Amino acid sequence: MEKYLKPQEQTAISLFDKERELHEESLIARVWLISDLQQSIPEKAKRSLYTALEDFYEMKLKCDRIWYMGDSIEGSDMKHLEEMTAMQQDAFEKLGIPLCYVMGNHDMDIMHKGKAPVFYNMVKAHKDWKCIDKCDDFYFEDTIGSFNVVFLSDHYAKDLSWWACHGRVYGDESGYPHSEKDLKALSERIKNSGKKTLTVSHYSYPGGNRASNFLGMMMPLPENVFMHIYGHSHIGDFTWAGKDVMRKISWVNDCDIPQVDIASLEKDRGNAIRSAFLEIYPEAVKISFRDHDRKMWTESFTKAIFNS
Ligand SMILES: [Fe+2]
Repeated sequence: MEKYLKPQEQTAISLFDKERELHEESLIARVWLISDLQQSIPEKAKRSLYTALEDFYEMKLKCDRIWYMGDSIEGSDMKHLEEMTAMQQDAFEKLGIPLCYVMGNHDMDIMHKGKAPVFYNMVKAHKDWKCIDKCDDFYFEDTIGSFNVVFLSDHYAKDLSWWACHGRVYGDESGYPHSEKDLKALSERIKNSGKKTLTVSHYSYPGGNRASNFLGMMMPLPENVFMHIYGHSHIGDFTWAGKDVMRKISWVNDCDIPQVDIASLEKDRGNAIRSAFLEIYPEAVKISFRDHDRKMWTESFTKAIFNS
């Protein structure tokens, strides 16, 4: 079996990398897309993170950004959360690549104990990294190449009285400040900007894996949303992902907009330590999925840019 697999893997590696080399000169920007390291035991988190990083360093791909789609940590053992946060801060600082981060449901596990999310506070305090400016904001924006990027984050009250994740509000719902009107207003704002826009979240829109009702309130999305990128539903997680367990690419319901699931950076729930790379070229955007365990590309998806 091993004899049979090895030449196949080498062919795949060579094919993806040769294609990349051909287009390297016209590359506008590259982003490393990661999500769901999601471990409650620091030793397990370390094993997954370091496996991914070893492969990342060996690939020698120059990246302009890291986008972290949440569930960076899991559980409510403060000592473990602080250790896993420090481990990731140290690792990503060493890469020296600007990082954008949205919170996911497990980043908020500690809120059940009345404490603020640890990883968010670390990113918020970091001078080169971006996340929601105020903890009760539900989005922030950035740009990459000619694209506007809208990052949709889980969020919480400054006084910790409520927190919103997984499409619902926990704690004192009466103080929750956002409504469908605000989500629809964001959709309208994206539409009126006229800019090609990428949206990024821990969750998918309806039509994706384990979709969020909260994001669903933005529907229908304006046509200038080019693509959506999310995590949460770990590929290969037969316990939670249902029939879509291996689906990486789908379309937003009733819209001509693709959405890609790039989770997860662990393989205790998912079936590989995986991430993806977003590459922006003048005429197309390409997503390449990476299996860090096997140190190989597994699939890619390319969408043409029409400059109308
Ligand atoms: Fe999640």
